[in-house]
Amino acid sequence: MNPLLARLHPYPFERLRALTADIVPSRAFKPIGLGIGEPRHATPELIKTALVGSLDGLASYPATAGEPALRSACALWAGRRYGVELDPATQVLPVNGSREALFALAQTVIDPTRPGASVVCPNPFYQIYEGAALLAGARTLFVNSDPQRNFAPDWESLDEADWSNTQLVYVCSPGNPTGAVMPLEQWRRLFELSDRHGFVIASDECYSEIYFRDEPPLGALDAAARLGRSDFRNLVMLTSLSKRSNVPGMRSGFVAGDAAIMKAFLLYRTYHGSAMNPAVQRASAAAWNDEEHVVENRAKYRAKFARVTPLLAEVLDVVLPDAGFYLWAHVPDGDDVAFARGLLAQYNVTVLPGSLLARDAHGVNPGAGRIRLALVAETDECLEAANRIVSYCRSPA
Ligand SMILES: Cc1ncc(COP(=O)(O)O)c(C=O)c1O
Repeated sequence: MNPLLARLHPYPFERLRALTADIVPSRAFKPIGLGIGEPRHATPELIKTALVGSLDGLASYPATAGEPALRSACALWAGRRYGVELDPATQVLPVNGSREALFALAQTVIDPTRPGASVVCPNPFYQIYEGAALLAGARTLFVNSDPQRNFAPDWESLDEADWSNTQLVYVCSPGNPTGAVMPLEQWRRLFELSDRHGFVIASDECYSEIYFRDEPPLGALDAAARLGRSDFRNLVMLTSLSKRSNVPGMRSGFVAGDAAIMKAFLLYRTYHGSAMNPAVQRASAAAWNDEEHVVENRAKYRAKFARVTPLLAEVLDVVLPDAGFYLWAHVPDGDDVAFARGLLAQYNVTVLPGSLLARDAHGVNPGAGRIRLALVAETDECLEAANRIVSYCRSPA
């Protein structure tokens, strides 16, 4: 067996199951899950229609690079959304969801033979970054998000030696679980560090289309272009239809950026065998070409968050995030695991303890004392959960 497999950590949901295995949830309430961040709004008809209307391509192998029509739909979408010009032939690749691409990118760019090979992850973070780094033969370095600065990653917490060992930095903006969007000044700092130390930046932007402010979230490519880096050197952005278009089951996204990295990534993917199903390619092009369903989807989340957030703010330290579909709430007595266990026992509501989404780094676990609430169910169910959380906080057992 690959010995690196033994370095992987159990997934947060696995740990939550173990931490709540002894609990018998109250039978007085039907179960409500706010733990898993899986979109539950309906898939738009136009995507289903495009998928079933494209079944005639199954008799041939698809190209790993994807069909030109899909690559140009992705490039045009990025152009409309971020005002950047991408060459679909050299700077865009379709991927089977951003998760596999986040993983595969580390396998492509990491040189494990260089001493100290390191990957920087935000903290708290999406656990795939860590698994990707470990299986690529690198070690992880964590940069805690700072609640005093809208959960900005504290780039200054790593020293010169750490940065010089760094080969890849994951950015998650909008963040899971914080919902924070990284502003231009922090991009400027990260680009300076990348120029000095030569590392690749992978910007995970799969929540970019669900936002609550007037301005859409700043993207990495947009930030680079605004700072005069129109070649996107050492930068790739990963995005996805899963949340934007409510198709997590379709497995579709794309990666765009530095043409030299994309060339190596295509080579890696060819051997890995990660070409996208042709019917999914056509349905994906239809999804990227349509913005109306995205506006509707965003409106649904906005209406839901506008009702649920103030209710929860009566009992928890929680504010409307910049973007995403999570609330990242501080619990009253600061013990996130005890809070989640008690809530499940008394009110049959599952939430994810924040400490399971983070690692101890720089003397703290930056997820401790917080819970992540995924507001993915319909509004009534989220409101019901919020009311139960209010009751629980007002009279914990
Ligand atoms: C931060 C983050 N990145 C990436 C993904 C993967 O999404 P997908 O593979 O569906 O594009 C998720 C899924 O929950 C996520 O939370």
